[in-house]
Amino acid sequence: MKTTVQMSSDQAFTLKDFLTDGRQLPLQQRLQFFYNYRQGLIARKQDLYLRPILSAADREVEIWDVWSKQPRKMLMFGSNNYLGFANHPYVLQKVHQAMEKFGAGIGGPPLLNGYTALHRELEERLSALKHSEDTIIFPTGYAANLGMVCALAGENDAIIYDAHSHASFQDGVKLYGFQAEKFRHNDLNALEQILRHAALQTKGERFVAAEGVYSMDGDLAPLDKIVTLCRQYKAILLLDDAHGTGVMGASGSGTAEHFGLEGQIDVNMGTFSKVFAVTGGFVSGSKPLVHYLRFFARSYMFSASLPPTVVAAVLAGIELLEKEPWRRRQLHENVAYLAAGLRNLGFDVHPQAGIIALRVPPSMNIRKAAYEFHRNGIFVNSVEYPAVPLKEQRFRISVMSTHTKEDLDRLLETVETVWQQCSEVRAMAGGVEY
Ligand SMILES: Cc1ncc(COP(=O)(O)O)c(C=O)c1O
Repeated sequence: MKTTVQMSSDQAFTLKDFLTDGRQLPLQQRLQFFYNYRQGLIARKQDLYLRPILSAADREVEIWDVWSKQPRKMLMFGSNNYLGFANHPYVLQKVHQAMEKFGAGIGGPPLLNGYTALHRELEERLSALKHSEDTIIFPTGYAANLGMVCALAGENDAIIYDAHSHASFQDGVKLYGFQAEKFRHNDLNALEQILRHAALQTKGERFVAAEGVYSMDGDLAPLDKIVTLCRQYKAILLLDDAHGTGVMGASGSGTAEHFGLEGQIDVNMGTFSKVFAVTGGFVSGSKPLVHYLRFFARSYMFSASLPPTVVAAVLAGIELLEKEPWRRRQLHENVAYLAAGLRNLGFDVHPQAGIIALRVPPSMNIRKAAYEFHRNGIFVNSVEYPAVPLKEQRFRISVMSTHTKEDLDRLLETVETVWQQCSEVRAMAGGVEY
């Protein structure tokens, strides 16, 4: 363990240290060290978290630059606003109308006093989109995953989940200490092996959890094969399609539609924080399943409903999925254009959805590279250790249908420059050489 003195004076630690050794420090000391640690990173231009955005979320945003102490324009490649709905005039019009009719907020959870006709309309529209009987809306996608697992699983059940499953799902599993086993990412043999074992050992249900589009790499689950395995081993499939909804499939229904599996997913979870660019989450499934969740998913029962304005934004977004299908086509064209350009630069990328991951080689200082993107006016997210293993640090590019060809070319030029500038620097993780 690092000593207190080391932790206060030494920069050679990472966020992981705060999660492990740092926890043993008295609280005030821990808070102060972490505060000082981040101030140090910011001063050294190694921390780009919490950049204040001054304008509407769009392909270009204005941010407050903490180093130059000035506003500056940046091309946005770090937002899940895949189809540009965040600032779409029709969405804004519907939000205004909802505010005039229902007011700014609702002031309570749905079971008691937070359920408007608009909430019900959205549940019905989502059910149609997901080819499901019914839908329940949660305050966030995180709450949807947490509530779903905690309500559905029991102590005799087995939960089998992909190793790249989102933290919100994994936290749900941990909360009640359910029997759970993860399988190597997208490894069907590993999944089948665990299922075979669980079929013999488990007294209760078997749940398999996967994501349509994985959030860190943007790759798809082999959903057709997973559905077949679930049928074979009588397992219930929990699909998190946060990044597939609106993006995948001819109508934007999601990854199930992409694989021709409409109506065949047992439990379909999604968020409003990606393509709909607001906040909220949902679970679609059979009527009894949704009815049960309304009374046993604690993150639904004990948390206030989404404001009607947010509900209206999602409803407008669902309409636009149908009325403006060119946006989805444009998104995929933009992704294909960027991927081709990146392959020309030597990157091995084959994205199928709206996310492209650029793996950072061990010879590169990811934090220096992140600042270089920032300096060149490109807003992009870096995913650092301990969020991912040291050797898997990456930049995550989120593509939008509203990006122009010039935007994409500027990103490609910047990637080339940053890679040239930063590749020679010694490898660092969390400010630490390794
Ligand atoms: C795959 C996945 N599931 C769930 C969530 C949580 O959604 P939200 O941000 O809407 O709470 C996210 C968000 O990052 C996600 O990427």
